[in-house]
Amino acid sequence: MKSEMEQLFEFLRFPSISTDSRHAGDVRACAEWLVATCQASGLEAGLHETPRHPVVLAKNQHREGRKHVLIYGHYDVQPVDPLELWTTAPFSPEIRNGRIWARGSADNKGQMFAHVAGVARTIAEKGELPVNLTFLFEGEEEIGSPNLAAFLKAHRELLDCDVIAISDTGMVAPGVPTMGYGLRGIACCEVVVKGPARDLHSGLFGGTVANPATAVARLIASLHDEKGRVAIAGFYDDVRPLETWERDIWAKVPGVSTDDFLKVTGAPELFGEEGYSAAERTWARPTAEVNGMGGGYQGEGSKTVLPAEAMAKFSFRLVPDQDPKDILAKVEKHLQAHCPAGVTIEIHIGHDGKPYHADPHGRFGKAAQEALRKSFGAEPVLIREGGSIPIVQSFREILGADTLLLGLALSDAQVHSPDENFPVENFEAGIRLNQALLEEIAAC
Ligand code: BES
Ligand code: ZN
Repeated sequence: MKSEMEQLFEFLRFPSISTDSRHAGDVRACAEWLVATCQASGLEAGLHETPRHPVVLAKNQHREGRKHVLIYGHYDVQPVDPLELWTTAPFSPEIRNGRIWARGSADNKGQMFAHVAGVARTIAEKGELPVNLTFLFEGEEEIGSPNLAAFLKAHRELLDCDVIAISDTGMVAPGVPTMGYGLRGIACCEVVVKGPARDLHSGLFGGTVANPATAVARLIASLHDEKGRVAIAGFYDDVRPLETWERDIWAKVPGVSTDDFLKVTGAPELFGEEGYSAAERTWARPTAEVNGMGGGYQGEGSKTVLPAEAMAKFSFRLVPDQDPKDILAKVEKHLQAHCPAGVTIEIHIGHDGKPYHADPHGRFGKAAQEALRKSFGAEPVLIREGGSIPIVQSFREILGADTLLLGLALSDAQVHSPDENFPVENFEAGIRLNQALLEEIAAC
């Protein structure tokens, strides 16, 4: 019998990078491994095709009169570049200083597998679970879950549940159990600026032909005012103000002070909207970010060229009650209106996901907090999250159920970056959390 940690290491060895089609086989192999692992723990499990990467469903034997808990996770991971910045290879997990180092260790394989291991442990100890359980694991979260909403609609009856639990978010500080009751939404797009038919000699044509790279810089600069507020008309129209109770409790949450943010990010100072703390800015205020920009010569030394084309990639983090489609329409209008003279622009709309917000004080929220209290032996804190899990709002709209966000990743987990890591103690606490959670939900 393999230990829980050995199994997690096997899971982490699959390079299940969803965005890269060269890894499609690895994504599938990872899903097949999950099916076999769930079956070995006593669950009924199967692989379900989607147009791209498969969904894994697993369940115990459901019985009349028990609560139905759906636990969601994603087995896909982000790309690993820049590879040279990893201390050890991303898909060769190892433990150093009490942490598991590997791509996906925190986001999301380590957190997700704690639930699989928790269920296996309960079945081994007690013969059965106290609730009807369904695991729903997808392989496309990191590319915006393009096929999962349709899957939910197609399997609505099977997935009809009382509550959903996810461990794919953060924990504010070591040993501080953290429950999230909100996620920011997201809307992505890309702008391509086109000028002359080909790259030109900047001495022969500079000053006569508009430079697309300059135009991209102007467009990027137009998104914010000097104080960091987003300058797109109507951007803040539907933003729900923070509530007093949450500002009060967030002010006491450990691990999110200005100094904590400086330490985790390595930035020389913080910057952002006036009148909000760092936690408030990331958890409850919307943003416009440039995720990438390019155009012109990038090689060694100089090349006197006027590029034919330049581009930028944007993402907008959204809060209740902003709507991603409405925001993208406003962004498009803004970019068109600010397009500098002498160039043309093309806007390519990308994926999006709605923000999520729930009442943390309902019966399931209270049950989850009790489970956190018991498994960590400390008082949980209530937060919202700056990141996005687009399917969560779809769970509510399609399945009619709210989601408990039980995050286990530390702020220095380096998710999506080199040297991603997850503490061994959080993996173990996550297993206990799963056991306590199912018990508390059964009893609530
Ligand atoms: N697990 C993260 C989201 C997250 C991380 C939330 C930490 C809160 C704290 C998730 O896997 C993720 O990275 N989501 C993407 C979604 C996008 C690709 C649509 C994100 O937030 O960028
Ligand atoms: Zn992620």
